[in-house]
Amino acid sequence: MGTLLIRNGYVIDPAQKLSGHYDVLIEGTRILRVEPKVTERVDRVIEARNLLVMPGIIDMHVHLRDPGQTEKEDIYTGCNAAVTGGVTSLLCMPNTRPAIDNRETIAYIQRLAQKAKAKIYICGAATKGLSGEELGDYEMYRELGVCAVSDDGRPVESAEQMEQVLLKAQQAGLRVVSHCEDLAIVNGGIIHKGSVSEDMQVRGIDRLSEDRITQREIELAERTGAPVHICHVSTKGSTELIRAAKKRGVPVTAETCPHYFAYTHEKLRSQDADYRMNPPLREPEDVAEIIRGIQDGTFDCIVTDHAPHTKREKMDFRKAPNGTVGLETSLAAGIRFLVEPGHIKLERLVELMTLGPARVLGIEGGSLEPGMAADLALVDPKAFWTVLPERLQSKSKNSVFKFERLQGRVKYTLVNGEIVYVMRY
Ligand code: DOR
Ligand code: ZN
Repeated sequence: MGTLLIRNGYVIDPAQKLSGHYDVLIEGTRILRVEPKVTERVDRVIEARNLLVMPGIIDMHVHLRDPGQTEKEDIYTGCNAAVTGGVTSLLCMPNTRPAIDNRETIAYIQRLAQKAKAKIYICGAATKGLSGEELGDYEMYRELGVCAVSDDGRPVESAEQMEQVLLKAQQAGLRVVSHCEDLAIVNGGIIHKGSVSEDMQVRGIDRLSEDRITQREIELAERTGAPVHICHVSTKGSTELIRAAKKRGVPVTAETCPHYFAYTHEKLRSQDADYRMNPPLREPEDVAEIIRGIQDGTFDCIVTDHAPHTKREKMDFRKAPNGTVGLETSLAAGIRFLVEPGHIKLERLVELMTLGPARVLGIEGGSLEPGMAADLALVDPKAFWTVLPERLQSKSKNSVFKFERLQGRVKYTLVNGEIVYVMRY
């Protein structure tokens, strides 16, 4: 592969606290050096003047739908969407068909992953078949290189069982990713419970359904000392609980998603199921608290919860499955809704999308330090663009950001030193 120089870009690398104009020298699959001026002869050059050069994004919450629901997405289209958005590594969730709880399914994903454009990390099912009953085989997961467990899409309903998940996962060196939802409180709700659900006369999802289980997971982590990662936080209350727990030294980490800092339940008045996801879009006070959590370190990472569903499924507002795609819009949504309004600096956004998730998962990446894999995104941070669903690389077009004008466009994505994406229009 030889040497590749990314010349004169604006480098942001939170791991080395770099923010300024640097050259990035890559040799083969790895970063060789980042320095103000590389003068030696190289095989190839990418001119990065006016571009942001950052570690590739690590999205630790992605539904690839493969195996079993490849009409929504498959491993290749999901990874194409990923690299289009500057995502070079992702964690795929186990609610596939069959669930990721057996050797064959893990081997299948790993085989296809070899030819996919982004790096795939696997999240195994916390309980077999996501049933909430028997625990998955964590030793087998570990042996096969699975790095986390979750029943995402559902909570582990029994607290006793969740405690076992935390303890056994800690023993096996797996991260626990918890989808916090009290199903008894949800009770068939389809959007946030508040003025919009009342006006529309649809059943609402009370914030309490999320906050109760967030509180439970924090107490279990505190009691056992085993770490827990809280998924897709959408409420003020959960943000406050996590902030307070971190202050007490509880081993808890957390993520939120772009839609939770960008929008409120007002979007649902359109009766468009593309705005339905779980947890649901909430209220302005939730958005404000989520943003505070992003500012003050309550959140460790921003993820997408990329959840593709077909047009057909999304046609019926009330019956549609929950979820929005997100891989191609997360960085631009972060720039548009967090950096441009002045809530955080671009450096913090990059940290939340690269180094943060790498640390939570304990995986390589999220940094441009010498010797690291050359996974990078080169971004025009000033470019405005409108999200046109039909142009998305994902098989599904259910984007919560459809027709929104976002800022920041990925121009090149590199994985292991190879250019896997170049923007074409
Ligand atoms: O909106 C969601 N979609 N939330 C989840 O927890 C699951 C996901 C899916 O798999 O579609
Ligand atoms: Zn979930």
